[in-house]
Amino acid sequence: MARLATDRAFYDDPYPSYEQIRSDGRVVRNGFVAGTVDHAVANAILRSDDFGTGAGQGELPPALRRLHQLVRDPDTLSPVDPPSMLVVDPPDHTRYRRLVARAFTARKVGRMADRVESVATRLLDDLEHEPTFDLVGRYAALLPVAVIADILGVPDDEREQVLGWGNHAATTLDPGLSWPQYREAAAALREMNAWFEQHLDRLRGAPGDDLLSQVLQDPDAADLTRAELHGIGLLVLGAGFETTVNLIGNAVALLDQHPDQRRLLQSDPDGWPNAVEEVLRYDAPVQLTMRAATRDTEVAGERVAEGEAVLVYLGGANRDPEVFEDPARFDVRRPNAAEHLGFSAGIHFCLGASLARLEAAVALRTLYDRYPDLRVVGRPERRTTRVLRGYEYLPVSTLARV
Ligand code: HEM
Repeated sequence: MARLATDRAFYDDPYPSYEQIRSDGRVVRNGFVAGTVDHAVANAILRSDDFGTGAGQGELPPALRRLHQLVRDPDTLSPVDPPSMLVVDPPDHTRYRRLVARAFTARKVGRMADRVESVATRLLDDLEHEPTFDLVGRYAALLPVAVIADILGVPDDEREQVLGWGNHAATTLDPGLSWPQYREAAAALREMNAWFEQHLDRLRGAPGDDLLSQVLQDPDAADLTRAELHGIGLLVLGAGFETTVNLIGNAVALLDQHPDQRRLLQSDPDGWPNAVEEVLRYDAPVQLTMRAATRDTEVAGERVAEGEAVLVYLGGANRDPEVFEDPARFDVRRPNAAEHLGFSAGIHFCLGASLARLEAAVALRTLYDRYPDLRVVGRPERRTTRVLRGYEYLPVSTLARV
């Protein structure tokens, strides 16, 4: 566990570290922080009233404390800084979440299916004459951005700029960044925050049919401060930009490594939704989160003292052999794949889960329908982040026979 913040091996392949933790115990401590890869313990912590998000508490590990010092500057407010709902506890969390949840109902997400499909088709049309391309930069990243930009009412000619800032904003999720990386992220966040303030004013003055305009017009939004609304928008922006891209990229890499599984899906397209669950389980795009005990407590028989922070390794819990048979096997037909904790659990369960599922299933089906022989070629590069797990660069060939 001590490897988390520093060791390159962790982001190349965190799974051996998780197995080390598993063999050490259900809750493991390394001096300044506890951690778990146990599915039952992780689930219990995420669902328990005895734990909060712990943001801003003195017990944060040093790397996270540095991050929180950085983002406390209001001009560099990041998607993971309070008042982002991700890091606040009830009752504030309940107020923010209710408001956004109204705009994210399954029915509203379902209505986006056609739009997602047409964006995927257009992106592939643009690549028509390119037999090799970077799957991440040219496809997996662009699809969720187009969708989230719709949701937030971002005008077309501002999208590229916002994507650039969004990429930097997401790096602040990671506890292992160097100071130069923090500084670069802070500069991008300052610009993005200034833009966002103007964007909110613009939508207030002339609401569109996007989700953010809808949130702004909701009578309950009148109770929220400007900073709270800003926090909500920024989180949806960051979450929408920086997670689904990793899900799609991880899926393509895995299906390349397991051609038998890809063939199964090509002969049975109804299998895509379960395959997406298996990718979320097997190689979760969000690998870890953190909670701090709000009082002395016990979880799955383990004592946790008030204020103690626990790293919840979602990616490790997803490989728990108590829940998943032969967990290191990638199996798109796994019957209980959806029991993964890739979207977390409890009150912070991912609000965008149904949108992410839709985007990934449509993106993958459309991609393999068009290019049944798609293969990864060259040398893919992993992102150098530990919370988010995905590819920076994933070269593919649409013609390759390798
Ligand atoms: C929360 C994962 C896509 C919006 C979360 C959390 C996880 C997660 C693990 C909870 C973290 C915690 O418990 O501390 C993912 C993954 C995605 C994805 C793996 C894609 C594959 C999205 C999308 C959106 C979104 C597309 C919005 C458009 C949110 C929001 C929260 C959240 C608003 C905060 C919920 C709360 O605190 O109540 N997500 N997410 N996510 N996600 Fe996602």
